[in-house]
Amino acid sequence: MSKTFFVLNGPNLNMLGRREPGIYGGKTLADIEADCHAFGAENGCAIDFRQSNHEGVLVDWLHEAAYSAAGVAINAGAYTHTSVALHDAIRAIGIPVIELHISNVHAREEFRHKSLIAAAVKGVICGFGPLSYILSLQALKTLTQ
Ligand code: DQA
Repeated sequence: MSKTFFVLNGPNLNMLGRREPGIYGGKTLADIEADCHAFGAENGCAIDFRQSNHEGVLVDWLHEAAYSAAGVAINAGAYTHTSVALHDAIRAIGIPVIELHISNVHAREEFRHKSLIAAAVKGVICGFGPLSYILSLQALKTLTQ
């Protein structure tokens, strides 16, 4: 049976394409989802791609991943910088989680330099535009081989 990887997206990522294209580029979240599914098809894994603007929903999905996924790539959006609940959920589930960002958060405002989830994840990929998603999936594939 093929592995499933969850790709979870947090607040405002549903606005990609329209949202600050100078920072996030012109691709929509649906475009990125299509890229992730193409990766899955080429690499024999299933991709379960989701987005929510609600912190608790992201916590619920991380818990669900513990039972139905081999790993998680998460772009937690602004919750990256604020959420102890996401940190705790990631620590609770015992499967590899990759933190990802489209932009290079370290080259932006100071409040984006701190991630509350970074200490709980396997690794962090940021600054590669939408390619950050594919690099995260590549990392999950290798880590779970
Ligand atoms: C982001 C970076 C975060 O600081 C921001 O709040 C986002 C998107 C990124 O993908 O670059 O919503 O996670």
